[in-house]
Amino acid sequence: MPVIVIVGTQWGDEGKGKVVHSVAQKAQVIVRYAGGANAGHSLELNGKRIVVRLCPSGITTPGVLCLVGPGVVCDPEVLIAELQIAKAAGSRVLLDRDASVILPLHKLVDTAREMARGSKALGTTRNGIGPAYEDRDARRDFRLQDLATEASIRKALERGNLHADRTRDALPGGVLPPSIDELVAWGSQFKELLEYLGDSRAVVEEMLEQGAVVVAEGAQGFGLDVDQGTRPCCTSSSSMPAGFSKSFGIYHFNCVIGIAKAYGTRVGEGVMPTLMDTEWSRRMQELGQERGSVTGRIRRVGAMDLPYLKFACRRGGITHLVITKLDLLTGNKIPVCDGYRYKNTGMRVEKHTTLTTEVLENVDPQFTLLDGWSEPIGHCRRYEELPQQAQTYLKLIESSTRVPIIGIGVGPDRDAIIWRDSLSSLSQSL
Ligand code: GDP
Ligand code: IMO
Ligand code: MG
Repeated sequence: MPVIVIVGTQWGDEGKGKVVHSVAQKAQVIVRYAGGANAGHSLELNGKRIVVRLCPSGITTPGVLCLVGPGVVCDPEVLIAELQIAKAAGSRVLLDRDASVILPLHKLVDTAREMARGSKALGTTRNGIGPAYEDRDARRDFRLQDLATEASIRKALERGNLHADRTRDALPGGVLPPSIDELVAWGSQFKELLEYLGDSRAVVEEMLEQGAVVVAEGAQGFGLDVDQGTRPCCTSSSSMPAGFSKSFGIYHFNCVIGIAKAYGTRVGEGVMPTLMDTEWSRRMQELGQERGSVTGRIRRVGAMDLPYLKFACRRGGITHLVITKLDLLTGNKIPVCDGYRYKNTGMRVEKHTTLTTEVLENVDPQFTLLDGWSEPIGHCRRYEELPQQAQTYLKLIESSTRVPIIGIGVGPDRDAIIWRDSLSSLSQSL
């Protein structure tokens, strides 16, 4: 019963979508287990690019069963758009009937809070993620199954007091929260979702019993995980494998593939020790088109942060790494952070230190400049074809994280990836 978990190891946008898209060709089931439409996973094939926000990154792969798990917070409008993509591609989608719904009020409250915080805003995507998870944790969430009839919509809103409870939040521009009647009318527009509802946990259990390869797709990344990330500038769900375990009751994985970009980026607010404002970082920003796939905001760029990647691998249970966007490093020396020292004492940060926001804000990253290479590598499909300097860089990542690199992204296309190990052998590992 092979279970492969794929997660981000930095601050999101590592290229999870592209890697899952590649793996989807060999998997039977792909599950998105946490987060919401704050995510944007880019899938590219033959120059055609699609950004998926809620459904698994297998929806463009014919025949794959794509599940949206009960721990996801769903924007119904986004789901409807993505179901069209799945239908056109010939993949199958099942939405867990227990997944929470993002109500219009959640987005209003998210936006109002961000505006009220002014310069201390968290930089959320304003998609209502935080408020929706608050309702879920308070056990008053509105679930996909509640969309069934006008009566069930009204009942769920009343059960959670959802139409009235958040009027205390000052909404932007004097906007009034929607009334219960308006919310019932809103919820009644999404009837076409009903035929896709089911029990995703039962399906996973059954498919595993039949020997299917199940891929669990994380959203965001280690640094944005609600428990392990850089609080308060993080999201409200578990990006790490624990998020999958929590909903699905599965605690044994054949492998946990951590995706890391060959350099660092971060969108939204929050600490980033290796942030740079240099000719190199501006070049990477431009070459990598480092803008949020969902909000269009500029992603800040910096050097590869090995201490943070090491930390994410250890605490995230990463067993294998995929390094993406290596192709973009062509033509330059490569800055890498290989250690942290405390700003006030100059002492090295010890291995087992928990890298919280407070710690990260007080470190001086130690940089090394590695030799680069000049030839394009987008065509490489075998590790041995990579220039020596690229191999040296990858070996440095492996030796500092002590995690083997099994894949290397050399372009945005689904097939622009060097796999050093087959999915079937990964399914056997551990
Ligand atoms: P995700 O949220 O982790 O799925 O990542 P995003 O899709 O938000 O951002 C990653 C971006 O990098 C997308 O534009 C991808 O098309 C692109 N990308 C992914 N892997 C590679 C790669 O190996 N090389 C290049 N040049 N681009 C890549
Ligand atoms: P994928 O899956 C990058 C960031 C936001 C903000 C913080 C909280 O594409 O990697 P939220 O709306 O979740 O309350 O915002 O988290 N954020 C992401 N950054 N990629 C993502 O997803 C993100 N999802 C949330 O920018 O800093
Ligand atoms: Mg993204």
